[in-house]
Amino acid sequence: MTPGVTHPTAETASQSILDVESIEVVYGGAILAVADVSLTLGPGEIVALLGANGAGKSTTLKAISGLAAADRATVSRGAVRFDGQDVLAIPANLRAKRGLVHVLEGRHVFPHLTVEENLLTGAFLQKPSRKALLSKVNDIYAWFPRLKDKRQTQAGLTSGGEQQMLAIGRALLTEPRLVLLDEPSMGLAPLIVEEIFEIITRLNRERGTAFLLAEQNAALSLSHAHRAYVLETGRVALEGAAQDLAARSDLHHIYLGGID
Ligand SMILES: Nc1ncnc2c1ncn2[C@@H]1O[C@H](COP(=O)(O)OP(=O)(O)OP(=O)(O)O)[C@@H](O)[C@H]1O
Ligand SMILES: [Mg+2]
Repeated sequence: MTPGVTHPTAETASQSILDVESIEVVYGGAILAVADVSLTLGPGEIVALLGANGAGKSTTLKAISGLAAADRATVSRGAVRFDGQDVLAIPANLRAKRGLVHVLEGRHVFPHLTVEENLLTGAFLQKPSRKALLSKVNDIYAWFPRLKDKRQTQAGLTSGGEQQMLAIGRALLTEPRLVLLDEPSMGLAPLIVEEIFEIITRLNRERGTAFLLAEQNAALSLSHAHRAYVLETGRVALEGAAQDLAARSDLHHIYLGGID
């Protein structure tokens, strides 16, 4: 950039890690899932993406990570910029290599592999040396001590909470700068959910990892996020500081289908 010259687009891009600009996402060329969503995320921010069932949270995350293509969904309008660069034409694995990873809803782990083997699969993009790989895995164990205790257990035999930790831990192995997390609390007991969110908050504070969190559990995610967007039938209906949104009495009835 030329010093002293104001350049609004570049300026915005340099301040945010993620810019989603008016995206429209269509499944199978026919079903409009996201009509018009814009959002930004600063480096090191935790941002919650809220909304009732079918509001478009998961589809928005898939458009950002590039995994939409695997579901025959297309971003038919708008832009997604990561570090100021348009990534829509880039496949998901290369977006991950740049530091943008997606932990899908539903705790996807390889059930017949051990916890440690699952973690090792997270590093395939970088092809590190054996020594570097073990050091990365140990780093994940430091964040998630429960995973260390279960390192030799088949992932399919661990608890739901441990599988969620494993899915997140595997995504962290490549040291991403932005993690898209889809419904990390789904179907888990409150205590384990609180433990997972505490780890997310610490990762954010100590490592500077940014998180975009799709959650139906608004109270939980607003208590850990800096800012939030509320989606309603594929559009942003509300946005603001997490604290301000948490204080709104109409949030649940009007926007979240009475959940919480
Ligand atoms: N694979 C798919 N094929 C066709 N339509 C889909 C597909 N996945 C989602 N949709 C539709 O897209 C819209 C948005 O769904 P999406 O899963 O993004 O919502 P969500 O906010 O994540 O909901 P939930 O809280 O239930 O997870 C819905 O109308 C849904 O039926
Ligand atoms: Mg979803």
